[in-house]
Amino acid sequence: MSIRFIKEKNTFVLNTVATTYAFDILGGKYLRHIYYGKKTANFEPAPLNTVSFSPYVHELGPSFSPDSTPNEISFFGSGDFRANSLRIKGADGTGVTDFSYSSYRIFNGRRDIHGIPFARADEKTRTLEITMLDDVTGCKLMLYYTVFEKYDMISRYMVIENCGKQSVKIEKCMSLELCIDRCDLDMVTLYGRHNAECSYQRVPLHHGVQSVMSRRGASSHQYNPFMAICSQKATEERGEVYGFNLMYSGSFLNEVEVDQLNTAKVLTGLGGECFGYTLESGECFSSPEAVMTYSAYGFGKMTRNFHNYIRDTIMPKAAFEPHPVVLNTWEACKFDIDAPKLVKFAEEANKLGFDMLVMDDGWFGERHNDRAALGDWYVSDRKFPNGLKAFVDEVHSKGVKFGIWIEPEMINPDSELYRAHPEWCLRVEGREPLRSRHQLVLDMSNNEVIEYLKGIFDKTFKDIDIEYFKWDMNRHMSNVGSSALPAHRQDEVSFRYMKGVYKLLDWLAERFPNTVIETCSGGGGRYDMAMMTYGIQIWTSDKTNPYNRTFIQSAAMTAYPAMTMSCHVSNPKGDMRSLDFRYKVALGGMLGYELNILEMTEEIKLEIAKQIKEYKLIEDVMRLGDYYMLTSPVKYPYSSYYYVNGDNGRIVLSVIETAACKAGRTKLLKIRRADRDATYSDIRTGKLYSGVELQNGISVSLTGKPDTAELFIFVRQ
Ligand code: GLA
Repeated sequence: MSIRFIKEKNTFVLNTVATTYAFDILGGKYLRHIYYGKKTANFEPAPLNTVSFSPYVHELGPSFSPDSTPNEISFFGSGDFRANSLRIKGADGTGVTDFSYSSYRIFNGRRDIHGIPFARADEKTRTLEITMLDDVTGCKLMLYYTVFEKYDMISRYMVIENCGKQSVKIEKCMSLELCIDRCDLDMVTLYGRHNAECSYQRVPLHHGVQSVMSRRGASSHQYNPFMAICSQKATEERGEVYGFNLMYSGSFLNEVEVDQLNTAKVLTGLGGECFGYTLESGECFSSPEAVMTYSAYGFGKMTRNFHNYIRDTIMPKAAFEPHPVVLNTWEACKFDIDAPKLVKFAEEANKLGFDMLVMDDGWFGERHNDRAALGDWYVSDRKFPNGLKAFVDEVHSKGVKFGIWIEPEMINPDSELYRAHPEWCLRVEGREPLRSRHQLVLDMSNNEVIEYLKGIFDKTFKDIDIEYFKWDMNRHMSNVGSSALPAHRQDEVSFRYMKGVYKLLDWLAERFPNTVIETCSGGGGRYDMAMMTYGIQIWTSDKTNPYNRTFIQSAAMTAYPAMTMSCHVSNPKGDMRSLDFRYKVALGGMLGYELNILEMTEEIKLEIAKQIKEYKLIEDVMRLGDYYMLTSPVKYPYSSYYYVNGDNGRIVLSVIETAACKAGRTKLLKIRRADRDATYSDIRTGKLYSGVELQNGISVSLTGKPDTAELFIFVRQ
């Protein structure tokens, strides 16, 4: 059984295939963390250890203080001075709560979270529900631990129910709190900016609080919600690593506090200045779901735990079909598109083996540049004089599928929608809203806005065979205020906004069941697990330069599988070497192209056709296979990694040089997953290798020049 309650010890034990997690009930009231690590039946709670200036509960004696206990959950103002999970302001205005353990329940499967995406249960998933009560506010707290046994994943979130008579306000609500009883640890996060998402940062923990957060209303390019804490010597294959992530696309807070007793307390959830939520008597609030995993075998195992979990329990079913190789119009055409031009694109795309033409920005209203028309989601009759349906039918008649770009959450002040409904954008009364990319943000917390968007998309896309939506989101929220909410609910806007976005995405998926979605936010501005429930892939970054992409993709792969990662070849500008390099970098994920197919030499066209053909032979290895990073470009002058399919029969090995080094240097790249008893042929060269040879390492000679790459495709004979 993956979840047990040991009555004699008042202890809950959660087991996955390779890990154990345990906590007990202390003094009939507190939840004390005992253990998270390698699977074991031998764990003991650490002895109580109070220090001066840590307040204690009189009845339990001075040896116990919430401030020096590894709490499973802690409450602002009740004796734990470290970062807390929960701050709720009741009628007394203090923000102090003190929930006591009340009961537990263990059940098969999981509980759904209302209005926020969550991971799917499988037949072995089990859940522990702990109920806690706060007498003064009258609030009830349910803490959910869901065990995804075979993935070594445990998720956690909470539901707060106001059973009291007066309203309360939740001011901080962290889905997960974990105390690790040491602090000689490193913290790994992914930071960045637009065009440079997922920069890898590894720093030692220090006493005090270290945090990453988004106050942008989006999970953001700046700080991804993924975080890992590892032993300082942890490598790809060795050392202890704890991985965390929050399944949410809006503002969040990840914090780690190293305390006076050298414990590292990890929290992830809704905190910081961007969150507040008033709960009237009788109402419930659910936090987003957080997940954690533990690896005793370095980052590689943690990475594969996340990859398997995200693929199997989060990604939509359609992501398991081959993803279309798309020709996207953005980088080649920008806003300069019309029916005759794109029909020619479709015709050529078909000849080269593309599956789909994706018409990006510029097709609607008076959208001739990025200054106008967001919100006016009807087709431009100047660019498409016969209407959208006739155009899409023509694209189909050329033998390719059709995808279209939308950016539902945004509005340009220069739009019909804004002229009709200026009150529909986020703004603070009396203040001029700031613009970003000439646009404002629609108030997705307002149901009228959602209904308008449903109506207009329904009308525009009705009876049109669209096979793919690219859902974009190109600015962050400032001057956050909603005309639809009263003053005391204004700090709920960004949370309610996210629920509005999820609602519209749910509607879109239901209304157009045969249409897959790619999500995007100026590239990877919402590269998070919640978005992954909707899209078959995410546009990883607007940066398509393969040099920068190598770093972005390598870091993104730490936490997210290749299936999620859209990788496009752009602008080869007639240079074959560059085309080859771009292709080999894009092969790290789901391949597509953004280039002007009408202005290309025959030689380039032939090469692209060859690339697509080759990719189609192996795309399932990247999409469904296991990923092993051999060298990170952050540490070495080259990035190298391989994907291997489930039965080890096919292996794709990439070596991408990113910095100049001495030419001719050889590197031994060990493919441990190769089958010892087999012979493999590299289908690119015809050269044969024994499995033992691959396991011992294939010798690759570096050219010493950045912007070159080598690709091996080993197929078992
Ligand atoms: C964002 C996206 C791009 C493209 C443009 C269109 O920047 O990331 O891929 O769709 O918007 O305006």
